[in-house]
This record gives sequence, C-alpha cells and structure tokens, in this order.
Amino acid sequence: MKLKENMAKLLNEQINAEIFSAYLYLDYSNYFEDKGLNGFANWYMIQAKEEMSHAMMFYDYVHGNDGKVVLEAIDKPEGKFKDDMDVLKAALKHEEYVTGLINKMVKAAREADDLRTEHFLAWFVNEQAEEETTAKDLITKYELFATDGKGLYALNEELAGRQFTPPENE
Ligand code: FEO
Repeated sequence: MKLKENMAKLLNEQINAEIFSAYLYLDYSNYFEDKGLNGFANWYMIQAKEEMSHAMMFYDYVHGNDGKVVLEAIDKPEGKFKDDMDVLKAALKHEEYVTGLINKMVKAAREADDLRTEHFLAWFVNEQAEEETTAKDLITKYELFATDGKGLYALNEELAGRQFTPPENE
C-alpha cells in the first residue's frame, strides 16, 4: 500500500529532523571534546550515531512503502553554550521537541487509517520516552555528583563506557 501524501511528507521531514539531531549531538560532542571531557564527548557521539540510525529507519520505511525520499538541507547547529549544564538541558529540550514530532506523526497515521505506519511509529514512541528519561538522568547525575573535580572525573569516566548498539525495530 502506497503511503498517503501527507504521511510521506511527515516521514520525509522526520528523516531531516533525525539527521539534524545527529548533527546537534555531534556539536555537543565537539563542545566536550574541546573541554577535554572525553567521556561526555563519547556519550554524545554515540547519541549522534543513534540519531543517524533513526534517520535510516525512516529512510528505509519510506522506500519500503512506495514513498519518495526527498533529502533537504540540514540546519546548522547553534553551537553556543554557557556551560556544561547548558548542553545537557539543550539535549533534553531537543528530545521533548522530537517527541512532539513523533506524536504528531502518530496522530496523522491514525487520521489516515494507516495502521502500518502507526505500528512502525510505536517503536519511536517508546524510544522517545527512554531518551527523555536518559537526558533527565544525566542532568540529575551532573547536579548531584559533578559538583567538584573528582565527581566530574568519575561521571566522565562512566560516560566513556557508553557503546553504540544498533536499534531493532522488529
Ligand atoms: Fe531520534 Fe533522539 O530521537
């Protein structure tokens, strides 16, 4: 069954939004790399990879359902941060924004009676809940433990251990 025009448009926009998310997280990683906090840099680098894998899931879905993929320009990330917490909070705000985009697509799928797309999007609904929780947890950990150099060192070490695991949407 071919994707309806509005649904295909939203899914295409999401490819762009996910690649922009990857770009944004790469920018966060870049910020922490410059500061010598390689664990935080690793954390956001893995996040950037996850976002690219999300983009590819949308890309494959559109192609797999007789839709046309149209790649648009990716916006430039702002790249101006007051301090570390500014980055952590920007990440949470961004994930809340992405949750809104996913929810909007679920509503559009329901209105179009497009059960296949609604089912496909269910993975992302769960993923967004996880991503918001993870971003909130990192803010809490920073506030609780990174109050001195020793705490910041330990948190940085913890974040250095994050590894990329490709998502499964089956
Ligand atoms: Fe792909 Fe962080 O949402």
